[in-house]
Amino acid sequence: MKTRIGDYNDIDYAASLIQLGELVAFPTETVYGLGANAYCEEAVKKIFTVKGRPQDKPLIVHIADMQDLEKVAIDIPQVAYSLFQEFAPGPLTLVLKKHPNISYAITAGGENVAVRIPAHSMALELIKRAGLPICAPSANISARISPTRASHVYEDMAGSIPLILDGGSCDVGVESTVLNLTSPQPTILRPGKITANMLSPFLDSIAMPKQASPIQTLSANVALASTPMQALELLASAGFGKGIILGSKDFIEKCGKGIVLGENSEEISQNIYAHLRQADKKYNYIIIEKFLETEENTALLNRINKVIS
Ligand code: TXA
Ligand code: MG
Repeated sequence: MKTRIGDYNDIDYAASLIQLGELVAFPTETVYGLGANAYCEEAVKKIFTVKGRPQDKPLIVHIADMQDLEKVAIDIPQVAYSLFQEFAPGPLTLVLKKHPNISYAITAGGENVAVRIPAHSMALELIKRAGLPICAPSANISARISPTRASHVYEDMAGSIPLILDGGSCDVGVESTVLNLTSPQPTILRPGKITANMLSPFLDSIAMPKQASPIQTLSANVALASTPMQALELLASAGFGKGIILGSKDFIEKCGKGIVLGENSEEISQNIYAHLRQADKKYNYIIIEKFLETEENTALLNRINKVIS
């Protein structure tokens, strides 16, 4: 199959592919998604095949309008509406009780469904013109780094899907916050840009389970360095030309070499996946600055933790 990269002029075509049960990759504000018609079980199954995704990992359903929430979920608590009023469109995914129309292929056999409204005009247009909810995981091969540019999607998906909509690089750069509203206590299943502090005015209490253990997703070894000195020592031990340091502007300036991810948490989150992908192609050893454990760094640290060797 030939994979084409399209633009805003291709949204109608993309919508018709979705309606026909084909997969289309599209940009969101977080990362690129691999979209399928949520009402077509065969299309949903293609996602698992193309990604090599484990069957037990459920998919997020994307809608364009809060009014469509009732098409995918039932017994929706009032707080879900309040949260979407505040944060949607945006990087917040809510786990709710699934509507009978949502197949178990999407929910991995469970009774709950994850829903979000992405804050990207191309994604919203695609969903509206398809006239359907679109389920989409990140558009990478399973266990690889999520794509934040159309070219990243192409690297992973060329030959497997007909179309990638190119909407530029993703603003947020790390995946959405996943909040489970079906558990006795609302629980953050995955940290993202919408932090616990931002959610707390809406909820009596929020649980945050312990971080999962690292899953290696890069071929390079990855280590953290607390200081520029330590980073340079690790770099030297990697062998000449074999390692690279990634960090904040300040950190890299002090190292005298390396890749600047950005000046603040927002910029660093935006750029981290692209630079990890790039560095993994060229180096055997990636040294990342150990960022402070602040509230706004929660998602960033969670994702870095997943690639540490
Ligand atoms: O930012 C994002 O959320 C991106 C863009 C494309 O929207 N999507 C994304 O999808 O990151 P994926 O499939 O890579 O990650 C989905 C996460 C997984 O951690 C999954 O376990 C959780 O959402 N999830 C999905 N459905 C769920 C459900 N019914 N119950 C609990 N967790 C669920
Ligand atoms: Mg993913």
